[in-house]
Amino acid sequence: MSESVILELSGVTKTYRVGGQPVRALDGVDLRIMDGEFTSIVGPSGSGKSTMLHMLGALDGPDSGSIRFRGIEIGALSEEQQADFRRHRVGFVFQFFNLLPTLTAWENVAVPKLLDGTGLRKAKPRAMELLDLVGLVDRADHRPAELSGGQMQRVAVARALIMDPPLVLADEPTGNLDSKTGAGILDLFAGIARSGSSVVMVTHDLVGTASHCDRVVTLLDGRITASDPVEGAVNV
Ligand SMILES: Nc1ncnc2c1ncn2[C@@H]1O[C@H](COP(=O)(O)OP(=O)(O)OP(=O)(O)O)[C@@H](O)[C@H]1O
Ligand SMILES: [Mg+2]
Repeated sequence: MSESVILELSGVTKTYRVGGQPVRALDGVDLRIMDGEFTSIVGPSGSGKSTMLHMLGALDGPDSGSIRFRGIEIGALSEEQQADFRRHRVGFVFQFFNLLPTLTAWENVAVPKLLDGTGLRKAKPRAMELLDLVGLVDRADHRPAELSGGQMQRVAVARALIMDPPLVLADEPTGNLDSKTGAGILDLFAGIARSGSSVVMVTHDLVGTASHCDRVVTLLDGRITASDPVEGAVNV
């Protein structure tokens, strides 16, 4: 693992207002993520995990505090620069895969390239390479409904990688998978981190996850209560 900081949060707060009532989702979060680090975020439901992940990927901004990507304050970027940041620097993986049902596996993987103006034909070779990486090249022409849950998630991981992002964010990516299939996805993330990208993953399954990652960050009521390196981590 290299020693450069890719993301740094300091004093990040976020309060939602629902019917005039404030809900403090993040309450002064300080966090540093290194290049090539595989971090798990754990904590009870409502503790702010998804909110924090959205901040890391500039899907949402904080009310106060600072979020710096390689030293650059994300909040100081224009809307256009933030969209560019999301498109080129971040790969997202979600609990419910979010694949487009009418597209085949390889076309789904290629979608971020299409959104970036590359033609389908030109995007195909890299999409196929990534399907190979996740062990699905023989399912390239299947549509999501013709894939298992674990296979759909592997397609989603391949899609998250197609822009070669230095940062991969995943929200409960194994939440809908059995433990063996989930372990396969965790192996993929560990491999991604070893190849130099940082991976930040929200999970409920600390026991199944810990052996794969470098560090476990615990959130409680919008605050980080622990940030522990994992002993004997596979990825260090
Ligand atoms: N868009 C929103 N509007 C209002 N309140 C919100 C919104 N999103 C989240 N919250 C509130 O912010 C707090 C943190 O929510 P968040 O989704 O980050 O939790 P979480 O740790 O991801 O929970 P879970 O494990 O259930 O996914 C919760 O109290 C939630 O009700
Ligand atoms: Mg959540």
